[in-house]
Amino acid sequence: MIKASRIGHATFATPDLDRAIAYYTEVNGLALNARDKSRAFLASKTGLLTIALEQGNEARLLRLSFEVSPHMDFADVARTLASDGVSSELRSDAAPGIGKLLAFTDPAGVTVELFTDWTYLGSHHQVLGAGPLKLGHVARLVEDPKAIADFYCRVLGFRISDWIEDYFVFLRCNPDHHTVNFLRGSPARMHHIAFEMKDFAHIQNACEILALRKKQINWCPVRHGPGHNVAIYHRNFDDLNVELYIELDQMKDEALGYFDPRPWHHDTPQRPKVWDRKTSPNLWGPLPTPDFLR
Ligand SMILES: [Fe+2]
Repeated sequence: MIKASRIGHATFATPDLDRAIAYYTEVNGLALNARDKSRAFLASKTGLLTIALEQGNEARLLRLSFEVSPHMDFADVARTLASDGVSSELRSDAAPGIGKLLAFTDPAGVTVELFTDWTYLGSHHQVLGAGPLKLGHVARLVEDPKAIADFYCRVLGFRISDWIEDYFVFLRCNPDHHTVNFLRGSPARMHHIAFEMKDFAHIQNACEILALRKKQINWCPVRHGPGHNVAIYHRNFDDLNVELYIELDQMKDEALGYFDPRPWHHDTPQRPKVWDRKTSPNLWGPLPTPDFLR
């Protein structure tokens, strides 16, 4: 069984590379590690490769990378994938600080890149924007969330944390309640990308930066039901909703099967479950604005 340990970086195509770099450095608060005419790589202030950008005709998600166990042999992984009918290819020098990648396409057409060897891209970067701790999760619209959730569980070792009815699934690969989410929608495309912040004061500071940069906050602040994260949202220059969050539920011990108890949980203990669509978006806070929903 292949077991993803954490999400690495997301690679997006953008029609305006300079504008996208300006967003991720001056608003989001990543550090530009490298760029050329058609590509750019951005790291968190701790030096984690977080976002890769490629000049393209339209803004869209191209690839997601996941770290797997350093003891995994890519030849074995390729055979395991092949036994599931998935063809893969070994790539090298695809991104700074990352060694070989094993790449394959998931059922919704996004390339998944598995890696074992990586290095920090510097450390303690002074950043201009909000400065998240890490890339937290990527939420995508797909035609069949059940089928792709089955794929991520069967092929990459993900576990289901929660469903909202039968149209929105949250999947974890480590203690974080969710690292990938899938909502029913067509055509397949991005829904939002989320970055973890340190605490509520860090989110408040991000609100000041978003206001100064004239980026409208389009849903905030809320405490969600599934995952119980406190979140704010805005759109980046490529019209993608970006979430900044804190206090995501943690499954610290898979054998126990419940999320680490928190005083804001209504269920005691809080176990993976199916939420209803009316109560799940917010335990408190406003409903999303039309700009978030469009
Ligand atoms: Fe989210």
